[in-house]
Amino acid sequence: MIRYALPLCLLLAASCDSGDIYPEQRHPEEVQMNIHATFRFANTGAFPQNYRIVWGAFTGTSPYPLAFETVAPAGDTWNATPLQTVPRGADRMALALAEKNENKTRYVFREFRIDNTVPDMNIAETVDLATFSRIQAQVFTPQCIQCHGAGGMAAGLNLTEGNAYGQLAGVPANADNSDKYRVAKHSIRNSFLIDVLTSRPETVTTNHTTLSTLDAADDVALISAWIMSGNTE
Ligand code: HEC
Repeated sequence: MIRYALPLCLLLAASCDSGDIYPEQRHPEEVQMNIHATFRFANTGAFPQNYRIVWGAFTGTSPYPLAFETVAPAGDTWNATPLQTVPRGADRMALALAEKNENKTRYVFREFRIDNTVPDMNIAETVDLATFSRIQAQVFTPQCIQCHGAGGMAAGLNLTEGNAYGQLAGVPANADNSDKYRVAKHSIRNSFLIDVLTSRPETVTTNHTTLSTLDAADDVALISAWIMSGNTE
């Protein structure tokens, strides 16, 4: 017993200082868990280059993770580093889209409630990266509705949540003279939305190619992957 006293004390320096004797109080900021997670991704063309996808522990309504790991899949699959602890106060684990320069999350792909009475979580899920709800959260709501919905109705186009899909898919474009749709499923070429965001159609006076305040390339890649996927709302 004595032989191990010193190394143990060094290893658990905090508990020696505070005089704690109960193992569960050595790291009061952490809770013992056992979390394994594997994700497979569908529509990997929408995997972001500059935004990041994070796997993290969250609490309450905060969009910032308490602790996280950046997702970097090999092919279409990613295995999270197994977790033995989560920060105290964390109420869920989530796979989320975070802004490129900080950890603020914009969209949650999946979330899993943490239940301390069931400390083992084994998660294996397939996640579609090219969903319309992600486009709404990543692009339309933060970057477009000030002119298309909340602050006006430019081109008669409403991109607010709950309205945007019905205003795009299969709807003929206003400011176009070539019979294109705003969005034509499975066709980038026939989707005027992509023309507006990537070029400057002469019928559109507002230059949309420089409007993106977050990351234009990731936004266009996401919308393109969604159009090609044929996904609906
Ligand atoms: C600063 C205001 C402004 C913002 C922000 C804006 N738009 Fe526009 N948008 C316009 C105006 C004005 C038109 C009408 C065409 C023109 O410029 O004369 C238009 C036209 C369009 C059209 C053509 C619609 C049609 O039926 O012809 C699409 C598609 C479009 N915008 C998508 C977007 C998307 C997506 C975003 C966000 C990334 C966005 N816009 C952000 C002002 C804006």
